[in-house]
Amino acid sequence: MGKDLKSLVIYYSLEGNTEFIAKNIAEEVNADLLHLQLKNNLNPNSFTKYIIGGKQVLFKQKPELKSYDIDPNEYDFIFIGSPVWAGKYVSAFNTFFNETNLSNKKIALFCCYKGQSGKTFSEFRQSLVDNIIMGEMEFKSPLELNKKINEKRVKRWAKELISKKG
Ligand SMILES: Cc1cc2nc3c(=O)[nH]c(=O)nc-3n(C[C@H](O)[C@H](O)[C@H](O)COP(=O)(O)O)c2cc1C
Repeated sequence: MGKDLKSLVIYYSLEGNTEFIAKNIAEEVNADLLHLQLKNNLNPNSFTKYIIGGKQVLFKQKPELKSYDIDPNEYDFIFIGSPVWAGKYVSAFNTFFNETNLSNKKIALFCCYKGQSGKTFSEFRQSLVDNIIMGEMEFKSPLELNKKINEKRVKRWAKELISKKG
């Protein structure tokens, strides 16, 4: 059964860490990718990203997303990944959850962080109450620290989750 599941990885990434994890998952379990992008993206090379990004999260803003042509409701298993911003998931997901109602999906959560992942997973769980959360995994600066180990870790995790029955 596992192999017949149609799977998708939905992620946002400003500096490439979450993208690195997302692409490894997609490669391992043959999933499609939905990269959420802001119409007015932050500048990853400027200190202002902390001010603007932090403010977006604290004020629960819903910045406009670039349009995409994937319908998440066509998938059975969805991996959802975010960088940790101000202890939470990024504001692109505020917009996404406002636009897209996910229910009865099998979902696995992942996040990338530098210091602490804070409330990221508990906030995701609150926004996804009508779904089944199959697992969660956090990655500390995977591009800088133990890139190869993180690659192995995420691939093993994704494969195990997809092949779980029920
Ligand atoms: C606006 C902003 C807020 C952040 N807040 C946190 C935080 O609260 N805790 C933490 O551990 N890292 C925080 N970080 C660091 C990122 O979570 C970390 O660098 C992550 O790997 C970035 O993922 P990305 O490369 O996919 O964008 C923050 C980064 C930005 C830009």
